[in-house]
Amino acid sequence: MWVGGSPAFYMSDIRIYDNVALAKMREACILAKDVLDFIEPYVVAGVSTNEIDKLCHEYITSHNAVPAPLNYNGFPKSVCTSVNNVVCHGIPDEYKLKSGDIINIDVTVILNSWYGDTSRTFMVGECSKLARHLVEVTKQALFVGIDAVKPYGHFGDIGKAIQKFVDKHGFSIVRDYCGHGIGDMFHGAPTILHYATNQKGEQILPGMFFTIEPMINAGGYKTKVLKDGWTAVTADKSLSAQFEHTLAITETSVEILTM
Ligand code: MF3
Ligand code: CO
Ligand code: CO
Repeated sequence: MWVGGSPAFYMSDIRIYDNVALAKMREACILAKDVLDFIEPYVVAGVSTNEIDKLCHEYITSHNAVPAPLNYNGFPKSVCTSVNNVVCHGIPDEYKLKSGDIINIDVTVILNSWYGDTSRTFMVGECSKLARHLVEVTKQALFVGIDAVKPYGHFGDIGKAIQKFVDKHGFSIVRDYCGHGIGDMFHGAPTILHYATNQKGEQILPGMFFTIEPMINAGGYKTKVLKDGWTAVTADKSLSAQFEHTLAITETSVEILTM
């Protein structure tokens, strides 16, 4: 936002954290990653998304942390489980996974007031060639985005790089949901677009923490939210995949905190 009368005095809302905060974030983010490692063997045909939610909830709370989604703006569960055409914010329920499904599990923990946010898309049993390709391209799209992050670079570099990569594969990038600043809050500035625009974006500076979390669709980029107020699905019912990491910027490096 602009403050004062002159556009020369531009002030960013993006928080800059110190090394004490970085140490806390490393712990929170490793726990979030550990939840995904823990849950992976349970992601098999016949298991319900409620069971996945319960197992993650117990793992998180038994490690002295709190699942950030639970009661966040009224979200009713501890993780998001987004199956097939669900883009993000899927609510765990009685649905039992079946062979051929893809499911994104998005974990955010609060450990000692610090947030770690990460997600992966898992394949259940034997998946179609399209599903396997989509999941692989989406995972690579996250790393293409991460590779575009440089201390003193710009946020616009991220979407530009992801767009170039995803276009080559003929998939589309969701525009309605974005990466975000994180730290001692869940969602803060900046908003990180996963698609290209003509905006350079703000400068990426040491001490910033943020996520990159591209959602890639096999069909068109459009989404809609179901009547439950949360579940975002592809408008054309095509498959959607997502991967997410939380990053920290230092003077000389980009640390992937959730890896
Ligand atoms: N973890 C999601 C993100 O990456 C946010 C989930 S909010 C919830 O930003 F309420 F749906 F859990
Ligand atoms: Co996030
Ligand atoms: Co997330």
